[in-house]
Amino acid sequence: MCEQRPLATVLGSELDLRLFNYRDTTPLRSGEVDDEPYGGGPGLVLRVDVVAAALDAVYGGVPDHRVVALTPQGRQLTQPVVDELAAEERLTLLSSRSEGFDERIVSHLASDAISIGPYVLSGGELPALVLLDALARRLPGAIRAESGSFESFSGDLEGGLEYPQYTRPPEFRGWGVPEVLVSGDHRRIEAWRREQSRARSLR
Ligand SMILES: C[S@@+](CC[C@H](N)C(=O)[O-])C[C@H]1O[C@@H](n2cnc3c(N)ncnc32)[C@H](O)[C@@H]1O
Repeated sequence: MCEQRPLATVLGSELDLRLFNYRDTTPLRSGEVDDEPYGGGPGLVLRVDVVAAALDAVYGGVPDHRVVALTPQGRQLTQPVVDELAAEERLTLLSSRSEGFDERIVSHLASDAISIGPYVLSGGELPALVLLDALARRLPGAIRAESGSFESFSGDLEGGLEYPQYTRPPEFRGWGVPEVLVSGDHRRIEAWRREQSRARSLR
């Protein structure tokens, strides 16, 4: 993923990415990072002292910048949330596995809790990559300027969905493309696209 656009384009310039493993800084001699939940129940819970030790090792304590815990219980990730986070100079993302975080991590060490959608994945690695990709696209030079405008959820489309797109061939298995798109009439094309975007967004 890091070798493909948009990440490849901004890595090392607009984006400095550092990865840390809780196991490298865990204060537990056994090298463990999680433990059984108080009150019983299945699975393991990521320990608060382990995450605090990781933040101490990297930043010398809880950093001044935003620390985002990735959890299905967090605020839903939307394009406005991506834009808000992309405006930050620095961000720390916290992932977990199994039964998730000791609640004290979310309440005292993290500033934000973000969910990438109302479903449960096995670990925070994919949510972190999803957020990273969405953030990288908002950085200068990540994508061609015009690609970022008039796309789904952008202000150019009033936060709505993108209009349908077509490319060659003009006909395939009897499936054609809307006549307006090959008319060369840019005013009609723009009006058609806006109308299509609005209609899709109302569905
Ligand atoms: C199996 S999940 C834990 C689910 C938790 N026991 C619950 O019911 O809310 C393990 C970890 O995967 C990550 N994760 C799973 N689904 C996620 C989602 N929709 N958004 C963000 N992170 C998620 C989080 O880091 C979470 O702590």
